[in-house]
Amino acid sequence: MDYFRVILGFMTTIFPSELISYLRASTRVAVLTGAGVSQESGLRTFRDAQVGIWAQYKPEDLATPQAFERNPRLVWDFYTTRREGAGQTEPNAGHLALVELERRFAQFSLITQNIDGLHQRAGSRTLIELHGNLRRIRCSQGCGILAEWVELPESVPTCPKCGAPLRPDVIWFGEQLPPAELEAAIKAVNTCQAFFSIGTSGLVQPAASLAFAARSRGAVLVEINYDPTPLTEHADYAFHGKSGEILPDLVKALEE
Ligand code: APR
Repeated sequence: MDYFRVILGFMTTIFPSELISYLRASTRVAVLTGAGVSQESGLRTFRDAQVGIWAQYKPEDLATPQAFERNPRLVWDFYTTRREGAGQTEPNAGHLALVELERRFAQFSLITQNIDGLHQRAGSRTLIELHGNLRRIRCSQGCGILAEWVELPESVPTCPKCGAPLRPDVIWFGEQLPPAELEAAIKAVNTCQAFFSIGTSGLVQPAASLAFAARSRGAVLVEINYDPTPLTEHADYAFHGKSGEILPDLVKALEE
C-alpha cells in the first residue's frame, strides 16, 4: 500500500503513474462518500461534536427510532437544524470533481452515506443514497407516504393516510438500509475495477464493509480521507488530506 500524506493547501497531490494508468484503462468505478466530503462546504462531519443546544446530545441519541418514539418534536428539531444547515451551504470542489469523474467512466456509481443532498445539487446522477436524504419526509409507520420536506408546522406533521407522525426520510441507528439502494451498492461493488472510499471514518456498517468487499473481489482500493481510518492499511493507495483538494487534482491528473 502506498501512503501519501498530501501537504495541505499549497501542493498538488502526487498520484503514482501506475494508479493513473490503471484508472485511465478502467471503465467501472465505484465511490463511497461520507460526511468528510461535505466538510469543506461548511457542514460538520457526523462525529464532529455537535454545537449549540445539540452539544448536550450525541447524534446516536437523536438518530434512532426510540428517540423519535420518545420525543418526535426533538428529533424533528434536530433534523430541521441539519436541513437548514445543508440548505445554507453549496457543493464544494470535491463534489464537483466527483461529477467530472462520473462523466469520465462508463460505469460510475456514487454510493453516499450523506443525507445533505449536496451530491445531487452538484449534479451527480448515478447516486445511491444508503442513509436517505434530508430533503424528503415519509410516514413513520411505513404506509409509503413520501414527500418533499415541508416547513415544520407547529406540531409534528402526521401522515394523511394513517395519521402516524411523519419523519425525515433518513436511516437511523439500528434500522435496515433501504433494500433497493443496498442491492445497487453491492452490484456496484461486485463489478467495479476501482473503489474509492472518500471522507468517511469507515466506522458504520454495512457501508464500511463495501470497500473490503470490493478489495476482496480484486478492485483497486483508494482511500481519500483527512485522517487515517481502519481501512487505510488495507487500501492500495491512501491519500490523507482534504477531498476538496485531492479530487480536483485527480481529475486533472487523469486529463493530462
Ligand atoms: N476531506 C476529507 N476527509 C475529511 C475532511 C475533508 N475535508 N474533513 C473530515 N474528513 C474525514 C474525517 O477524518 C473522518 O474520518 O471525514 C470522516 C468523517 O467521518 P464521520 O464523521 O464518522 O462521518 P461518516 O464516516 O460519514 O459517518 C458514517 O455514520 O453515524 C452514521 O449515518 C451516519 O452517515 C453517517 C455514518
